[in-house]
Amino acid sequence: MLNFELLKTDPADGAYPGSHARRGTLTLNHGVVQTPIFMPVGTYGTVKGVMPQSLHEMGAQIILGNTFHLWMRPGLDVMQQFGGLHKFESWHKPILTDSGGFQVWSLGEMRKISEEGVKFASPVNGDKLFLTPEISMQIQTILNSDIVMQFDECTPYDTKGHITTEAEARISMELSLRWSKRCVDEFNKLQNPNALFGIVQGGMFENLRQESLDALVELDLPGYAVGGVSVGEPKEEMLRIMAHTPHRLPAHKPRYLMGVGTPEDLVEGVAAGVDMFDCVMPTRNARNGHMFTRFGDLKIRNARYKTDEAPVDATCSCYTCRNFSRAYMHHLDRCGEMLGPMLSSIHNLHYYLNLMQEVRDALDAGKFGAFVLQFRQDRQRGV
Ligand code: GUN
Ligand code: ZN
Repeated sequence: MLNFELLKTDPADGAYPGSHARRGTLTLNHGVVQTPIFMPVGTYGTVKGVMPQSLHEMGAQIILGNTFHLWMRPGLDVMQQFGGLHKFESWHKPILTDSGGFQVWSLGEMRKISEEGVKFASPVNGDKLFLTPEISMQIQTILNSDIVMQFDECTPYDTKGHITTEAEARISMELSLRWSKRCVDEFNKLQNPNALFGIVQGGMFENLRQESLDALVELDLPGYAVGGVSVGEPKEEMLRIMAHTPHRLPAHKPRYLMGVGTPEDLVEGVAAGVDMFDCVMPTRNARNGHMFTRFGDLKIRNARYKTDEAPVDATCSCYTCRNFSRAYMHHLDRCGEMLGPMLSSIHNLHYYLNLMQEVRDALDAGKFGAFVLQFRQDRQRGV
């Protein structure tokens, strides 16, 4: 089940010419999600270093899980025993699971792709495994995720210095389309009560993107994602595809840009008509001492923070900024204390979630364009 209500599209203040931004409400089996939204990544059934309670406090509405990883560990028997991922990880709001397409793609050399599916050696124990569209649907049905992603092939931008040609991107995109149909058939056969999203592929080729999109729209799925971006292409290429594809998707269905990106990417993504984002950046960067703030990014390792009594971001209301100084965060980092990445992850996720809250407020108020101008100016100011 999925219901998407489009509350507002952005004709707005005219300060952002050509904006496709929209404000919506997405109702799923485990709750309601206000869009545009950022979804924290919880690959292995945990948003790394962050307790579900903290996720609630920072206003997370939906988190990700990964078919591939959860299939490896703990495995389907345990998932079945717990009746799905929600109870197992004690997160009772919506969950979206990625299909394994992208994760198998990340294995690089270790995999073999055929019409039927992908053969690979388990990175955990070396076992020979085979993932197909059908198996991905079966696993995601057991996980009981609110949003199920189709099994796809994420077209690489470049393989060992060879930039993917249009002919190669077409072959890959067409394979993903045939897999889409197999996913739909299996999803229906399993009587999965949740929602299946299709994924637009086509590499860096706008004509292929359009073909992929047209064929997926024919399948009349409840939502659509744009995949195959942030795969090592130059930034301008990513921005070109981001500007091209989302607004061409059906207006009355949710649009999800997979694996993107920086705070700037999210704001431009909203302007391009995207409703949903996920990215490991806030959590991964937190673990490396890279903090996002309203006035630009900050590397907590830097010696200049050794005695700094200010919070990471004075305008942030997260648990970390309400209680701790940059000096303390710097100290935790220097000592390799595990509280460091935990507090940093809370702050970075709060920053991303709050940014999207500010975007939603601006859209509600009809002031998205003015918001974007202020956002850019603030981020460039520097901490
Ligand atoms: N995550 C980021 N990009 C992709 C993609 O193209 N496909 C899938 N399944 N997941 C992704
Ligand atoms: Zn904070």
